[in-house]
Amino acid sequence: NWTMVNIAEESIERIRRQVGDKHAICGLSGGVDSAVAAALVQRAIGDKLTCVYVDHGLMRKDESEQVEKDFVAATGVKLHVVDAEERFLSALAGVTDPEEKRKIIGREFIRVFEAAAREISATDDVEFLVQGTLYPDVVESGGGTGAANIKSHHNVGGLPEDLQFSLVEPLRTLFKDEVRALGEQLGLPPEIVWRQPFPGPGLGIRIIGEVTRERLDLLREADAIAREELTQAGLDRDVWQFPVVLLADVRSVGVQGDGRTYGHPVVLRPVSSEDAMTADWSRLPYDLLERISTRITNEVREVNRVVLDITSKPPGTIEWE
Ligand code: XMP
Repeated sequence: NWTMVNIAEESIERIRRQVGDKHAICGLSGGVDSAVAAALVQRAIGDKLTCVYVDHGLMRKDESEQVEKDFVAATGVKLHVVDAEERFLSALAGVTDPEEKRKIIGREFIRVFEAAAREISATDDVEFLVQGTLYPDVVESGGGTGAANIKSHHNVGGLPEDLQFSLVEPLRTLFKDEVRALGEQLGLPPEIVWRQPFPGPGLGIRIIGEVTRERLDLLREADAIAREELTQAGLDRDVWQFPVVLLADVRSVGVQGDGRTYGHPVVLRPVSSEDAMTADWSRLPYDLLERISTRITNEVREVNRVVLDITSKPPGTIEWE
């Protein structure tokens, strides 16, 4: 695709001029924006870019591997992985309030990222921070230079005074579909290029109740089944997002195999939307819903009921927390 080749080349040239022979860091979230931004900067400055991936343990099945292995294989990017699962889970222990969870996850994320940035800066003298800010983000924030105030979790807005970087934002003029096309052009894995939006706090806000490793594992299994079946049905691109939510504090009676069970429900929340500001519940085919339900209750011990969320936004939000 000619247009994308040109956009890529121009962008790489502009990054080279901006960064010169200095070093840059980039936080990867697992999503398409940060991945494409990082891939462009990598093409421009090679090993003078270090990417940081904070694995908070709240990702879906295989997502961390997609970043740690597939993205690195596709781009040759220098990656610094921080395994922070223990830290996030201890910080979240006993917490059930949604806002409290979000605050804790956001705070720990900044701290871990900051520590990694300091460590890298100590050897490399980093001057630039790469961010995957898109055109709609720029408009939303009033068109100013610092888009770092929105989506504060992922854009790492809250770094301390003595860790100030100049921003490199190669996607500032692009819309999401252009970013995806660019990602394909750059040879990124389709799982990353076509990933549906996923919240920064991850599965932490899709477990209603306390977040524990057991519950995360359970939700990861159920979520993977829903995603797999959606893909099998060829409907990935018809759905904006497909959260699967674990009602961890709710139990209901069921019958599985030879006996009575007392397990948890999971909620399927497929939605269609243009921009996530409003959304409608997706009318997925009944046979697809049936397959998802049967597989989840067969394959995920502890889940004995699958329910469908048929609420629009408003009044419901897309996420449950
Ligand atoms: P709601 O639940 O408010 O979500 O309808 C709207 C969109 O935003 C995503 N979302 C987040 N994204 N950090 C993010 O990067 C967050 O803390 C966050 N919370 C919600 C949500 O998945 C949906 O696409």
